[in-house]
Amino acid sequence: MTAPLNAPAYVKHEGLKKWVGEIAELTQPDRIYWADGSQEEYDRLCAEMVKAGTLIKLNEQRRPNSYLAFSDPSDVARVEDRTYICSAKKEDAGPTNNWEDPATMRATLNGLFKGCMKGRTMYVIPFSMGPLGSPIAHIGVEISDSPYVVVSMRTMTHMSAKVFDTLGANGDFVPCVHSVGAPLAAGQQDAKWPCNPTVKYIVHYPESREIWSYGSGYGGNALLGKKCFALRIASNMAREQGWLAEHMLILGVESPAGEKTYVAAAFPSACGKTNFAMLIPPEPLNGWKVTTIGDDIAWIKPRVGKDGVARFYAINPEAGFFGVAPGTSEKTNYNALATLKENIIFTNVALTDDGDVWWEGLTKEPPAHLIDWQGKDWTPADGKAGKKAAHPNSRFTAPASQCPSIDPAWEDPAGVPIAAFVFGGRRATTVPLVYQAFNWNYGVYMAATLGSETTAAAFGEQGVVRRDPFAMLPFCGYHMGDYFSHWLQMGKTVETPPKIFCVNWFRMNEQGEFMWPGFGDNMRILKWIVQRCQGAVGAKETTLGWMPKFADIDWSGLNINQSDFEVLTRIDVNAWKAELAGHKEWFDKMGEKMPRELVLKRELFEMGIFRDAA
Ligand code: OXD
Ligand code: MN
Repeated sequence: MTAPLNAPAYVKHEGLKKWVGEIAELTQPDRIYWADGSQEEYDRLCAEMVKAGTLIKLNEQRRPNSYLAFSDPSDVARVEDRTYICSAKKEDAGPTNNWEDPATMRATLNGLFKGCMKGRTMYVIPFSMGPLGSPIAHIGVEISDSPYVVVSMRTMTHMSAKVFDTLGANGDFVPCVHSVGAPLAAGQQDAKWPCNPTVKYIVHYPESREIWSYGSGYGGNALLGKKCFALRIASNMAREQGWLAEHMLILGVESPAGEKTYVAAAFPSACGKTNFAMLIPPEPLNGWKVTTIGDDIAWIKPRVGKDGVARFYAINPEAGFFGVAPGTSEKTNYNALATLKENIIFTNVALTDDGDVWWEGLTKEPPAHLIDWQGKDWTPADGKAGKKAAHPNSRFTAPASQCPSIDPAWEDPAGVPIAAFVFGGRRATTVPLVYQAFNWNYGVYMAATLGSETTAAAFGEQGVVRRDPFAMLPFCGYHMGDYFSHWLQMGKTVETPPKIFCVNWFRMNEQGEFMWPGFGDNMRILKWIVQRCQGAVGAKETTLGWMPKFADIDWSGLNINQSDFEVLTRIDVNAWKAELAGHKEWFDKMGEKMPRELVLKRELFEMGIFRDAA
């Protein structure tokens, strides 16, 4: 027997109610609960999860209103090899996505979802990506059988019963269906972290804009507003509707004169994206201030502002940070740590004896005893033997509003005007500290060839470069070649598109040491970027683009001399020959959808490099 629908009277959308009813009929939950996003509901669900053993309540004095979850060891990260873009035509998913015929996938999922919520509550989660009612925002409804997902969505999205008012009787929403894939037989004891250890599917149907996720309760696999909606489905919407859904942080830079400039930046994983979003300038530059609008995703729409000028306006579609804990400390990211004071859900970090949390890098010396992320005793001797107390992908789920550097306009429905796009990978060699594209299309070229080295390179030698165009490789919901064309096209929709910059914080010297201090000192480069946007600072023309001269960077308080700077910004022509051959290989992979414009740019670029070599 299917559980009663129980829809509250304020839900007026018949189509939505019908869909919820159909999913209930398929998945057979014991009951249906319509979430309202209230504090009371959050507290109640957390208390229920503490009782069930899913959450551990942390010491109220040390970490008020905060919890720790240990996941199943098989369920600790996004599962890219189980992630599908099921477009009607295979060529629309492109060479960088897994594809399956939608009818075949629907049959598979129908089989898996049949009865998969037995013994569980089915939660209906209304959420807005972006401030509710913003012209840049969009609405989703997630059905999930995980209360951990409900409370996490409350932090990560604008989740509230008011979404139903905005939807009205027939508003558009992205339907998201999620199950941990672990039905309970009558009387069966539930797992602390229910999931399906062997079968996982994260499926997107771009044409009908649906998301179906099965088998995982973790992060981006389960909190479907984030990567699934805000990037994979939204990138399809953006392409169709003429905007951009990007894997970008958004920050504001305030000059000592009080002038504000907004920058959006894309970095592949493990490049310090959260640190950059919350950067604190070093002492000598403390007339400058960085504010945070978002740490992971940007939705950007072109529009004519109050000043009569067409620009790109960006919002952070999320309301919280789902950040990697290890490596976060007062020294590496003071603002992140300050954000974590209360109201946090930690997942897979270690538990201290006084009921607080710890992870590698939080303090120099680990505590004498911990419970590790697998619930086992841990001592520093285990650490010395290479056993991590916190999982390397352990996370915090934190309200963005608690971040000390949060920008006053972070929830402005109008968005903030973007002056610059910054792209950065992790490259030990080849890529200089910073350079500026000559124009929009060239900037698209730079972003399309962005990459990180997967293995450390010896000096003068390239490691294995994994191309991660626009840091969107796992997140672009359609053919990457079409995505490049969309970006080329978008540059024509505003009068003066944002300037585009490339950065590399990770260049190494002959001893294999990082040459650039990074962290707060990245402000020096950010200052140059912002001043370039204002036409307030010089640069020199190189084959790669505009680069700062030594005198163009504010070096106060930092011991970098002109010759260090020259190594940091050197264009090694032999390395660039190899790099450009790598670009060709990458472009060839895109096949026929690769825009000619970029193919020709590569050839011109190569001519320039060969000319430099001569
Ligand atoms: C993330 C990612 O978790 O990009 O944000 O992988
Ligand atoms: Mn991300």
